Amino acid sequence: MFGPNQPVELQLIEIPRGMKALEAVVIELHDCAFPLLKTVSMTDDLGVGFEGANWVVLCGGAPRQDRMARKDLLGVNGKLFASQGKAIMAHAASDVRTLVVGNPSNTNCLIAMGNAKDVPADRWFAMTRLDENRAKAQLALKAGVHWTDVTNLAIWGNHSSTTFPDFLNAKIAGKPAIDVITDRAWLEGDFIKTVQQRGAAIIKACGLSAAQSAAHAAVETIHSIVNPTPADDWNSVALHADGSYGIEKGIICSFPTRSDGSRVEIVQGVPINDFARAKIDATIKELVDERATVRDLIPA
Ligand code: LMR
Repeated sequence: MFGPNQPVELQLIEIPRGMKALEAVVIELHDCAFPLLKTVSMTDDLGVGFEGANWVVLCGGAPRQDRMARKDLLGVNGKLFASQGKAIMAHAASDVRTLVVGNPSNTNCLIAMGNAKDVPADRWFAMTRLDENRAKAQLALKAGVHWTDVTNLAIWGNHSSTTFPDFLNAKIAGKPAIDVITDRAWLEGDFIKTVQQRGAAIIKACGLSAAQSAAHAAVETIHSIVNPTPADDWNSVALHADGSYGIEKGIICSFPTRSDGSRVEIVQGVPINDFARAKIDATIKELVDERATVRDLIPA
């Protein structure tokens, strides 16, 4: 069982590029002297890497290039997640939880989960915390406040150019964000577009995908899952849809979620108006379409 403040034995696995690519990572991890990091080792064998793992973070895969959509990576990355799912089921600890970061993360998570049928569906997550953080930063910059003042920012749907950052239920210093930022055209237009296109903006600016912000979001995602969520707030993570909010069951979809420190639940009763419904429907449609394209990677 893995919980807060527990020492971590970290096993790094490199599949596509070989172990050489990991050497610098190991050096830097040692040099960080993280207080909770106990050991770091590396392997290119999935079975060795996942042996007894309580937490698996799947970051690997070909990165997106300029002018590509994340779902364009499904063909090349999808298969990797099928084999990782199988290896997780065969080798990981019985309480294993998996966070998928590699793109397209929601559907890669679905593929891994579908190849690990013995691992319960509530143990699989895909990262949308990066979108949440991006949205919080944009609202804070517009409102002239610090990003920690922005709460209740839910990301709905896919980690993609259809993601819906829910400004309608967000709060700024405890007040509805729409009362603090009254420029509705900006909220419905540039704000959403900036969040949806933020990953592409980074790739365009430097030719590489987000690194620091993505790593930070992964750490925050796991922190939020293994610690109780502060009262009256929620965080975003994509998980197995259970039919809540009329969203297609079975896809890996981002919702507002809360944790009690061990179980993550979808927050119920968040108001959804017609504008939000249309945005959510569009991102769900994309997830359903992605699922259809990877059917052959998921055993019946
Ligand atoms: C991001 O959102 O920055 C990552 O998912 C990388 C990408 O391809 O956009």
